[in-house]
Amino acid sequence: MFSTLTSVSEAFDPNGARVLVTGASSGIGAALAEALAERGAVVGLVARRADRLSAVLDRCRAHVDGCRMWVADLVDPVQVDRVATAALDELGGVDVLVNNAGMPKRRDVQALDVEAVEAVMRLNYLSPVQLTLALLPHMVERGRGVIVNMASVAALLSSPGEAAYDASKAALSTFGEAMALDLWETGVRVLNVYPGLIATELLDQPGNDPLDTDIEAVPPGDVVAAVLGALERGAAEVFEPTWFKDIAVAKAGDVEAFLRGAAAYLRDRG
Ligand SMILES: NC(=O)c1ccc[n+]([C@@H]2O[C@H](COP(=O)([O-])OP(=O)(O)OC[C@H]3O[C@@H](n4cnc5c(N)ncnc54)[C@H](OP(=O)(O)O)[C@@H]3O)[C@@H](O)[C@H]2O)c1
Repeated sequence: MFSTLTSVSEAFDPNGARVLVTGASSGIGAALAEALAERGAVVGLVARRADRLSAVLDRCRAHVDGCRMWVADLVDPVQVDRVATAALDELGGVDVLVNNAGMPKRRDVQALDVEAVEAVMRLNYLSPVQLTLALLPHMVERGRGVIVNMASVAALLSSPGEAAYDASKAALSTFGEAMALDLWETGVRVLNVYPGLIATELLDQPGNDPLDTDIEAVPPGDVVAAVLGALERGAAEVFEPTWFKDIAVAKAGDVEAFLRGAAAYLRDRG
């Protein structure tokens, strides 16, 4: 069956593309929205903080007047539906959906309760899925579109103290891969993005254990460059920094060895 599938992707041109970016009030989403507007995209911005979103909108509108924003809490399914309808109406359609809004959950599994896990799943997994399903028929009807999922290397590397977050990102990226196959012949593509450690407000949100890592955080602009390049190439996935892919491949080759090695590293580090 798989040998009969053929890719129908074409090069992505941001100029004039209508792009909906969730979580656009700060960090990766804000930087990506601005970079896309700078390249001529009509960008729709979504997040909860109106003041921060409005500042990003001003910067986008300096490039493209038709950019818009919608203040919404994407944990609420009613608000997710409203965003989808408003984006279709006011942008006249969505060519690229960037499922970027997300929350961290740095908490040891022994301190987790199911409510915390559900809250993470709702924002990081269910809300992007709901938005995707709402916009997908319009993309399929036009025979083109891109869905960008801001996953995380945490989805593949079982980062310690983050079971709830890791699982939400694994769900998002797995949904994206499976969806890519379902959509292979439709002209709609999926890009899964796997950022490593990125210097944003996500690293010091309240309700999380303090960040405890030797890895140096890279600026959000590195992820933006990686996403723009991947869109242009029609890639199905992109890692930033790229060396995380080597670790993901090594882990997939021997999960037990990876877990033993990671546990020993954590024990020795104290
Ligand atoms: N930073 C990293 O190391 C890293 C690594 C891998 C993946 N990622 C992923 O990258 C994405 C962007 O995160 P970031 O690092 O750029 O952090 P960030 O600056 O904290 O951005 C998170 C964005 O999500 C929005 N958001 C949070 N809760 C929301 C809600 N309930 N409804 C609507 N919007 C909401 C926030 O806006 P409001 O607060 O205004 O709503 C903000 O715009 C996330 O999905 C994150 O998991 C980050």
